[in-house]
Amino acid sequence: MNFPATRLRRLRATPALRSLVRETHLHPGALVYPLFLCEGEGIRREVSSMPGVFNLSIDEAVKEAEACAALGLGGLLLFGLPDKKDEQGLGAYDSNGITQRGLRALKASSAAQSLVLIADVCLCEYTSHGHCGIVTRSGANSADYAIENDASLALLAKTATSLAEAGADIVAPSDMMDGRVAAIRSALDAVGKTNTPILSYASKFASAFYGPFREAAGSAPQFGDRRTYQMDGANRREAMREIAQDLAEGADMLLMKPALPYLDIIREARDRFDVPLGAYQVSGEYAMLHAAFQRGWLDPERAMLESLLSIRRAGADFIITYFAKEAAHSLA
Ligand code: PBG
Repeated sequence: MNFPATRLRRLRATPALRSLVRETHLHPGALVYPLFLCEGEGIRREVSSMPGVFNLSIDEAVKEAEACAALGLGGLLLFGLPDKKDEQGLGAYDSNGITQRGLRALKASSAAQSLVLIADVCLCEYTSHGHCGIVTRSGANSADYAIENDASLALLAKTATSLAEAGADIVAPSDMMDGRVAAIRSALDAVGKTNTPILSYASKFASAFYGPFREAAGSAPQFGDRRTYQMDGANRREAMREIAQDLAEGADMLLMKPALPYLDIIREARDRFDVPLGAYQVSGEYAMLHAAFQRGWLDPERAMLESLLSIRRAGADFIITYFAKEAAHSLA
């Protein structure tokens, strides 16, 4: 049927009609808010490139979690900022580490009844060199180094079990070492955490959009970059292989990252794989929008909701976003 019999504008005439025929929806329960835990008490330190995002001491994080629960958010993604870092990232798998203590405190709060506590599993916030795995040096030049895949697996597995034992409902490896999902699954099972799901950052691209996060988490690599382990942004087929591999190793859910610059990857993953799919609207996506909001160049509420809707429309079931609280306010 063609015009004039067909007039697509008929179904756009009123807010009620538009609501009735809307294909994609946003709801607070499908939003996850990242929290950055730091040492100390009463600390709320704003991240300069991420307005409204703070490094929080554990007591403040508990208050933040209660606010998130009241807004109906789906969960929290936890990152730890240790006071001390070293070559092996000891703080990542210390049962008394910052994230482990934070998890115990959050688990004991009323917020834990409605929020899923997801713990990011990586070494980069805990290593002095800022890489996501163990570094070996082969010479005096700053370029003479390698990130050791297999040696890193044992540490990532230890990190995951210690986070699960501290109360993480889900562990989310973001390191991009090969074989980490299998290593984490068998380590979790060995300590009886057979019911802890793994949310794998399966196709994580080496992205400029992580810049503000590295300020928030103090995790910028001290030399080199992450291109030997995070994916090349040009590769869609390889992203599908990464996902297939992680699922074969036992991943329960997938996390796509970044989101907006990679919506095609999210869509393809959604079409190919029948597992729950999350997408991470990363720090640089948030910072970029805020920069425009500050100048008055974009309408904050509309641009925020449109960016989130596009990620849902691409196929994500849930979204990890620094906008989670504001979005829940707008959707209320
Ligand atoms: C840790 C990790 C990073 C992010 C999530 N987990 C940083 C990185 O890989 O450099 C980025 C999140 C964001 O930018 O919001 N490996």
